[in-house]
Amino acid sequence: MRRLLLLLLIEIVHGSCPAGFELVRNGQCRGLHSTITRLYNEPEREAVSRCKEINGKPVIIHDDVDQMYWRSVLNGSNYDTRDALETNNEVHWQSWSNGNWDNGTDTTYNGLLLGLVCTEDSDYRDIVWQWSDGSPIDYTPPGFEDSIGNYLCGDSYSWYLRPNGFWEDNFKRPPIDVYCTTQLEQPVNDGCEYDPEDGVCYRIGASANSWQDAQAICRNMGADLVSIHSKEENSFVRRMAVAYGAVNGVFLGGTISGKGKEFGWIDGSAWDYDNFYPGFPIDGLGECLTMDTLSAAGQWVNVNCSSSFPVACAKKDTVPTCTSGPWTEGQIIYSPGYPYDASVSCNYVLTVEAGKRLEVHVKLLEANTCCDRLILTDNYIGGNTIANLTGEISDLTFYSESNIMRVTWQPNGGVNVRGMMITFNAFETIVLPTLHP
Ligand SMILES: *[C@@H]1O[C@H](CO)[C@@H](O)[C@H](O)[C@H]1NC(C)=O
Ligand SMILES: *[C@@H]1O[C@H](CO)[C@@H](O)[C@H](O)[C@H]1NC(C)=O
Ligand SMILES: *[C@@H]1O[C@H](CO)[C@@H](O)[C@H](O)[C@H]1NC(C)=O
Ligand SMILES: *[C@@H]1O[C@H](CO)[C@@H](O)[C@H](O)[C@H]1NC(C)=O
Repeated sequence: MRRLLLLLLIEIVHGSCPAGFELVRNGQCRGLHSTITRLYNEPEREAVSRCKEINGKPVIIHDDVDQMYWRSVLNGSNYDTRDALETNNEVHWQSWSNGNWDNGTDTTYNGLLLGLVCTEDSDYRDIVWQWSDGSPIDYTPPGFEDSIGNYLCGDSYSWYLRPNGFWEDNFKRPPIDVYCTTQLEQPVNDGCEYDPEDGVCYRIGASANSWQDAQAICRNMGADLVSIHSKEENSFVRRMAVAYGAVNGVFLGGTISGKGKEFGWIDGSAWDYDNFYPGFPIDGLGECLTMDTLSAAGQWVNVNCSSSFPVACAKKDTVPTCTSGPWTEGQIIYSPGYPYDASVSCNYVLTVEAGKRLEVHVKLLEANTCCDRLILTDNYIGGNTIANLTGEISDLTFYSESNIMRVTWQPNGGVNVRGMMITFNAFETIVLPTLHP
C-alpha cells in the first residue's frame, strides 16, 4: 500500500476569500476592495498597491470568461450605482492642491479600472502598457483591433473596461473602485516535501493538544494519524520525525479499540505489527499511542490521550473515490478527496427515521462559482430542490420535507478548492391537525 506520510507539526492555516469577495473560478476570489477617493496621476499604481494589501492583483483580463465576469460586475447590482450608468454621469471628487483639499463635482465616465501599468519593455528601451503582474497581454475584447502596446503611456490616462465591453484609455476622476483578485491558498503540497522515490509527503509544525486533535488535524488534510505495519515503516516515521525536530515523540494512529484492552488503528487497517517497549502497554497509563522518537528503535508507549505531541499523518495516494455510505446522524461527511482534490462528484443519500425530517448543516463549502455546485434535493429522486449552492459557505442549515435528502456534490473541475463538509441530524416534524371543512 503506497501512502503519503505527513509529519504535521504546525496547524494548517487555510486561506479563505476576503470578506465580501466571491469565489469565482480556479480558486480565485474577486471583489471590491476599496475606492480611490482622491486624485492620483496613475490610479492603476494605487490600485496595484491596494490589492497588494490583501495579496491580490487588480483587474487583469486574459480571456472571454474574465472579460464577461468583469463586465457583469460593472453591469450588475453589486456595482456602485453612482457609476452604474453607461452614460457619463456626475460625481463628486476631492483633490489635493496647494496644500488643501479641493472639492468638486464633475461628469466622469464610467468604467472599471484595469490593472494595466506603464512598465519598461523587455529591452528597457520603451515604456509600454503591461499587466501589473507581468503576464502577457494575450487578450483584447472582440472588436478591439488595436494593440494595447501601441498606446502611449501617459501619466493621467488609465485603462478602463466600459460597460459595453470596450477597453478605453481615458481620464477618470475619483472615486474609482478598486477591484482585486486573490488566490485561495492551496492545500495541495502546501509546505509538503515529497520524497521522489516513494511519493511520501512530509510536513512540520507544532504539537496537537490531544490525540483527538491530532486525528482532527490529519482528517482536515484528508489523512489519518499514521498506522505502522512493519519495522521499515516504523524506522521511516521515526527518521522523519527526528529530521523535522519531533525528537520527543509523536502521536501514532493507535488507540484502545473499545473492544477490551486491545489497541487498534484509527485508519481501520489491521493490527499486524507492534513495537512496544517491553512491558508496555501499561494498564491505566493511557489509551493512546505514541512513538518514542528519542529511542533509535522508535519504540512505542501508551499515553494519556490528553497529552500533547506532534502529529504524524498518512494519506493514501489514490484518486479520491465517492463512497456510498451508509451515513449516520452527526457524522461529518466530506466530498471525495477533501481538502486536496474536489474534482470527483458524489451523491449522498441521507436518511433519518420515518416521520422525522432532516436538518443538514453545511459546515463548509468551497466551490468555484463558475462551475461547481452542491445540490440538496428532497427525497431520493424527483423531489424539490432545497438548495443549489456554490462559492464559499460556512455554517448554513437546510431542512428537508421528508425523511430523505439527497446531497449531490457536482464539481465541474473543482479546481483549487476544497469541496464540502456537511453533517446531518433528524428533527421532529410538527404534525398539524388536518382541518376538515
Ligand atoms: C447588463 O444588464 C442588462 C440589464 O440588466 C442586461 O440586459 C445585459 O445583458 C447585461 N449585460 C451584461 C454584459 O451582463
Ligand atoms: C473639501 O471638503 C473637506 C471635507 O470633506 C473640507 O475639509 C475642505 O475644507 C473642503 N475644501 C474646500 C476647498 O472646500
Ligand atoms: C489524563 O489527563 C487528564 C488531564 O491532564 C486527566 O484529567 C485524566 O484523568 C488523565 N487520564 C488518565 C487515564 O490518566
Ligand atoms: C443550479 O444553479 C445553476 C446556476 O443557476 C443552474 O445552472 C443549475 O441548473 C441549477 N441546478 C439545479 C439542480 O437546480
